[in-house]
Amino acid sequence: MTSINRDNLIAAARVARDKAYAPYSRFHVGAAVLTAEGIIISGCNIENAAYPSTMCAERVALHNAYAQGARTIIALAVIADTPGPVSPCGGCRQVMAELCPRAIIFLANTAGAWVETSLAALLPGAFDPNDLPMASAKPGH
Ligand code: THU
Repeated sequence: MTSINRDNLIAAARVARDKAYAPYSRFHVGAAVLTAEGIIISGCNIENAAYPSTMCAERVALHNAYAQGARTIIALAVIADTPGPVSPCGGCRQVMAELCPRAIIFLANTAGAWVETSLAALLPGAFDPNDLPMASAKPGH
């Protein structure tokens, strides 16, 4: 992945963050994924008065990409106004294990800091489709 692609992906996540609907926490998060087709699809956190119905930016971006037909995610970026690069929640890490297990993951903050990581580093030993007995339960099917 080139630095230009990386910077573009983080920039897309930053733009998506401006769309966050977060009237309760006022914590705005943006995410963007790069598909194998070279398309960037983004998402932001969307909160709900019934708090558990809130959806994180990473999941909105990943679900948006899958809803548009993408099945191979090359990279994912997430950004928030945190002291260091934002740390994805456990639920999002589990969804990444399902929908983008091999993606390059960039964690960023609005001050310009970023780190590159992987799902294996974020969620070692993840329960994933290979743990299920059904042979057809594989990503992309
Ligand atoms: N949030 C995300 O969008 N992604 C994360 O990985 C962590 C948390 C959102 C959910 C909620 O709208 C707000 O941040 C505060 O938890």
